[in-house]
Parts: sequence; C-alpha cells; structure tokens
Amino acid sequence: RPGKVVFSGIQPTGVPHLGNYLGALSNWVKLQNTAGPDDKLIFSIVGWHAITLPQQSKELSASRWDMLATLLAVGIDPKRSILFHQDDNRCHTELAWIFNCITPVGKLRRMTTWKARLADSRNANSEEEIDESMLNAGLLTYPVLQAADILAYRATHVPVGEDQVQHLELSREIANTFNRTFVPGRKRFFPLPTADVTPSKRVLSLRDPTSKMSKSSPDLQSRILLTDAPDQITSKLRSAVTDSIAGITYDPINRPGVSNLLTILGACTDKDPADLALELGNRSNAELKSLVIDAVQELFRGPRTEFERLRGEKAYLQQVAKDGADQAKAHSEETLRLVRSFIGL
Ligand code: ADP
Ligand code: NA
Repeated sequence: RPGKVVFSGIQPTGVPHLGNYLGALSNWVKLQNTAGPDDKLIFSIVGWHAITLPQQSKELSASRWDMLATLLAVGIDPKRSILFHQDDNRCHTELAWIFNCITPVGKLRRMTTWKARLADSRNANSEEEIDESMLNAGLLTYPVLQAADILAYRATHVPVGEDQVQHLELSREIANTFNRTFVPGRKRFFPLPTADVTPSKRVLSLRDPTSKMSKSSPDLQSRILLTDAPDQITSKLRSAVTDSIAGITYDPINRPGVSNLLTILGACTDKDPADLALELGNRSNAELKSLVIDAVQELFRGPRTEFERLRGEKAYLQQVAKDGADQAKAHSEETLRLVRSFIGL
C-alpha cells in the first residue's frame, strides 16, 4: 500500500503548555516513532496563521525560533520528519489564493470558529453595534489557508483536536471541488484528507477546571509551561483548585479539579484516569498532587533541558529550518506546478 502523508501545524505563539504537549505534541512524536517506512510526516510552524491576530514583531520572531527548538526538544527528529516554518514556503499562500477563488464566503461564515470570533467581538464591545466588518478577512479565510497547508503536500492524514474537525471537512470539500472543476478526467489529484482526532483528553485550567488550559488565560498559575523549573511546577500544582470531598474519585462533572489531576497523571503514566482513582482510593488530594508533581517534573525534565540547550544553538536551528523548507518545497512546488497547469496559468 502507498504510505500515508501526515501533515500538522502549530502556531509560533509562545512556549507550549501541558495541554499543548499532552493534546498535540506528544501525539506528533508518537506518530513519528510508529510511522512505517513509506509514511511521510510533515510538521510546520505556521507563522501565517499567527498573524490573523495582532502580534508584537519581536515576540513573534522569538516565538518562531522557540517553537522550532521546542519541537526538536520534545523529540521531532528532522531526519525522520519534515520540520519547517510555513512562512519559508510561498506555495502555501499561492495555493490558498487559488482555493479562496473556489470557496463560497457563505461556507466560511458557517465555521464555528468564525461564529465564536464574532460572538467574542460582540461581547467585548457590547454598547456598540459590532458586526463582521470589524474583523480582518484573514480570520474568515484562514481555514482555506489550512486546506492549502494540507493539500500542498497532498496529505492524507491530519492529526487535529476535536475543534478542527469542521475545518478538515472544508479541506475535503475544497479538494473535491478542485478535482471536479480542474483536473482532467476529474481524477482524484488531491486526496480527501482524513482527520485523525487526537485521542487524548483535554487538560483543564489548574485555577478554573471548568475551562481548558489555554495560553490566552491571563492567570499564569493556570497553566504549566514546558520551560517551567521543577519548583514552578510544584507551586502551580500545589495551588491547583480541587475540592473538600474525602478520597479520590474520577468524576469530571462534580469533581473537575480532582478529575483533571487524574487526567494529567494518567496521560503521564499511560493509565486510565478512572483506574487511577480506584488505585488511589482514600488518599488525600494533597497526596494526589504530590504524585502529579513528580510525574510532570519527570515528563518535562528532558524536554526542558534540551530546549534550554537548543535555544542557544541559533546556527543549528537555522540549518534545520533551511533543510526542512527545502524538503517541503520539493514536494509542494511539484503540486503547484500541476495545479497551475490544470487551471491554465
Ligand atoms: P491554546 O488554546 O493554548 O491557544 P492552541 O489553540 O495553539 O492552544 O492549540 C495547539 C494545539 O494544542 C491544538 O492541537 C490543541 O488541540 C491542543 N491543545 C490546546 N489546549 C489544550 C488543552 N488544554 N488540552 C489538550 N489539548 C490542547
Ligand atoms: Na487557541
């Protein structure tokens, strides 16, 4: 059978947190380490997506290199995976433009991510009449850029979180429309990419375990960063919100804080959180926290040390980025050559 082509991207917006690691990055590494000899893995740091929201140029530029160092530090191996900066390869924007020209605006307006943006801007400006005219066009069309990211490599599998499934469906529709409209004999030039929804549970905020751990929360105690020193991991987990119910039970509805700690411990130790709860039985929340502290410190020890080392190796990072971009371009330029010939340009 022909191998899979796996594509996934992450934005260069700050150091990843425990949720990013357990929900996305650790899965990339697992995919890489279980890939067959004919499979191709393509991981991209997606700078063009980052600028759909306002960024400080100095911070963005630093985050771009920090994210590359992070991906290497967690175990993405540039000998086994193509690892590159999206903004180093213009094929993404060229293909996105072509796809924009075959994508109805109505379809983009129906994306739940777009509707959420509209709702946010209405909430933030409640006295005024706020509509979509206040939002930039990039926020509306970035799902088309995602389709281009994926289809430039004719990727077949896309590891994503639950919230990205609708965007993957759009990528499939765009692939299908292009094939039917432009490809001689309506052949399946673009594969219809499959969403591989990451099995891992959501990691919740340590301070408000009813919402997910997120880099956008202003409360720095709510998330553990990959770069946190052991004592920072300890203090954040010690102050995690739990409850005063005796004993340990896995009950995400009634005991979100305790259940979140069990989710984290389970992900670190490869155990089911409900089984862990049975194992821990009548231990205290403080004892559970000690176990989670040990597990997270152990989980991040290697990556954190490696990240600090790589961060200083700018020449090495630049070489990795260049090699990755060259490999990415070799694949996508062939796609774009054919795409242009199909549409007559
Ligand atoms: P954030 O929500 O912190 O801004 P991103 O949206 O940049 O994070 O997400 C990057 C990746 O990490 C996505 O694949 C997303 O599904 C995953 N992810 C983000 N937050 C969590 C979380 N709290 N638990 C599990 N996975 C998460
Ligand atoms: Na986000």
